[in-house]
Amino acid sequence: MAHHYRRLRPGVEEMPWGSLDPAGLPPKLVERARLSWTEAAYNEYCTAAAFAELMALLLAVNAPINLVALCGDFMADEMLHVELTSRLATLLGGGATYRVDFERLTPPSDPTLSTLARCNEAVVRLCCVGESFSLPMLAGCLRSSTHPLVQAVLSRIVKDEALHGRLGFEYLEWVDPLLDDAERDRLAGVAVDTLETLAPLWQRLRSEVQDGFTSEGYAIADVRRLGWMLSHEYRAAAHAAVREDVVAPLAEFGIHIPDAAVERLAPAAHR
Ligand SMILES: [Fe+2]
Ligand SMILES: [Fe+2]
Repeated sequence: MAHHYRRLRPGVEEMPWGSLDPAGLPPKLVERARLSWTEAAYNEYCTAAAFAELMALLLAVNAPINLVALCGDFMADEMLHVELTSRLATLLGGGATYRVDFERLTPPSDPTLSTLARCNEAVVRLCCVGESFSLPMLAGCLRSSTHPLVQAVLSRIVKDEALHGRLGFEYLEWVDPLLDDAERDRLAGVAVDTLETLAPLWQRLRSEVQDGFTSEGYAIADVRRLGWMLSHEYRAAAHAAVREDVVAPLAEFGIHIPDAAVERLAPAAHR
């Protein structure tokens, strides 16, 4: 099975796994990177679980064959991302301590909703918001990164992710004739809720940069080597991603996120 898995998703062993030596980096920064890549692995695992749930819903609503089949493929992509990110954490000293409830990887769905409404909601949460937001953010980390292994891992993830968000908008094209105004408004609320859960990623950033160092005392070169953007870059990229990759494409399907919510989550002044 391991051989077939590799054959379907090749190029992993060829990545420069031996090139990341944490010895040359400040131990505290390595510790943060270890936690950050562990969290990344957990997030990829949750995304795999969400694609698995979405696949069952797409089957139940008789969605187009290509969407259902690709959804299964995307679940497998996410498991590859789990492997890549956890291998990076391992090279940095081993996965950080992290308590995970494997039976609660995705938000519970409302049992009073119809299957179609639950499928719409899962698509908006996972693809139209989560994946559409994360693609430009990961691409930003890839541009920031200067280490060959981190670049190899991020470029593989970015390449796979490009299609994951698009599935959501292709689904909306298919389901569009079945959506009434109330359902579009409900889905706008779902999108806002999902963005609220992501917002601490950029709203809690406090680090500043001065003379080549962050306010925590880390050299910018080391921060970039480990695959992070600087705080101000991350914040600007997040604001742009919310507006351009989530809010605008959803509006094309009549799913309008209120201006006040957009301004709160991605203030225009910071762009
Ligand atoms: Fe992923
Ligand atoms: Fe993804």
